[in-house]
Amino acid sequence: MSKEIPKTQSAVYINELGEYDKIKFDNSIPTPKIESSNEIIVKNYYAGINFIEAYFRKGIYPVGKFPYVFGREASGEVVAVGDDVKNLKVGDKIAYLSPGTFAQYTKITTNDHKYIKLPANSTDEDLKIFGSLLLQGLTALTFINEAYKVQKGDNILVWAAAGGVGKILTQLITNLGANVIAIASTDEKLKLAKENGAKYLINSSTDDIEGKVKEFTNGKGVDASFDSVGKDTFKTSLNSLKRKGTFISYGNSSGPVENFGLGILTPKNIKLARPTLNSYIVTQEEWDHYSQELLKLYKEGKFKFDIYKTYDLKDYKQATQDLEGRKTHGKLTLKIPQ
Ligand SMILES: NC(=O)c1ccc[n+]([C@@H]2O[C@H](COP(=O)([O-])OP(=O)(O)OC[C@H]3O[C@@H](n4cnc5c(N)ncnc54)[C@H](OP(=O)(O)O)[C@@H]3O)[C@@H](O)[C@H]2O)c1
Repeated sequence: MSKEIPKTQSAVYINELGEYDKIKFDNSIPTPKIESSNEIIVKNYYAGINFIEAYFRKGIYPVGKFPYVFGREASGEVVAVGDDVKNLKVGDKIAYLSPGTFAQYTKITTNDHKYIKLPANSTDEDLKIFGSLLLQGLTALTFINEAYKVQKGDNILVWAAAGGVGKILTQLITNLGANVIAIASTDEKLKLAKENGAKYLINSSTDDIEGKVKEFTNGKGVDASFDSVGKDTFKTSLNSLKRKGTFISYGNSSGPVENFGLGILTPKNIKLARPTLNSYIVTQEEWDHYSQELLKLYKEGKFKFDIYKTYDLKDYKQATQDLEGRKTHGKLTLKIPQ
């Protein structure tokens, strides 16, 4: 069963790797068709923007084949279902994780469980929030449970603390009774980190980061560093850890970490993890556990999630220039033309 779907659709994509000028937006991308019985087609409403798109565009992560349609998450309405789909029907509203969401239509397979059903009476604001929350929210939630199990009283360094992931991390870590040492590049961003519960603030543009960490931790260093910046901050993170501390390196905002010898972990017995969200939500049980926990925390007001700016789909290039240019804080999202 399906609603009428046009042959081509508006989408944001690339046909070759490169800088911003390679980003294309037009109405030429074929709309997906149901090809196997477990698939559904979603008509998208909002698609959250994530830094990872820059890595695909630049070739830091492989794109597979061209045209490569950007996007990793969205909210939308189910407009077609395969014969064996049991849990969803045409007209249902969902929020989900999948490649290819910067487009009017996306095909997903329900064998991949990474979706949540939204109430039929969801408002436009609900659709915006839930089309933008899952990726960064689940990243923060899984990492503080599995990459490093944050404990009450810990001192935790959070890089890009006013960024999309950083804002949620700061709040969830603070909720656990740990002390967030927030790092950001401007005082305006640090003010937001403080409002989100950060105990100590470091301005990466003006402060001596390692000196400040020593000062805030009585010379010991932090229990863990959640470092999304990558290349530029690797050594500073390492030097800021306490003996037996944990280094969570989870992003490449400044470029991928360069090769290093394992021996640099030895003097302080450092544990190092380079996690990805996707490998924490592989099974249905893992997905249900973390997605339900995230929604519960959000609905109970345990963390705030605000959208920095909503861009039209056609303006993705401007949005990612703002994001990659460090001009933004919190979440950016795209409104998909209907
Ligand atoms: N491993 C995973 O599964 C996973 C999942 C989600 C996200 N991530 C990673 O987490 C990071 C945050 O993602 P996000 O979408 O929430 O982005 P974001 O943090 O909102 O934006 C990136 C921020 O990084 C900081 N930054 C520091 N050096 C930078 C540089 N040279 N260029 C650009 N930004 C720089 C900037 O904050 P300041 O100006 O305050 O320094 C900037 O605002 C990204 O690295 C992303 O790839 C990883």
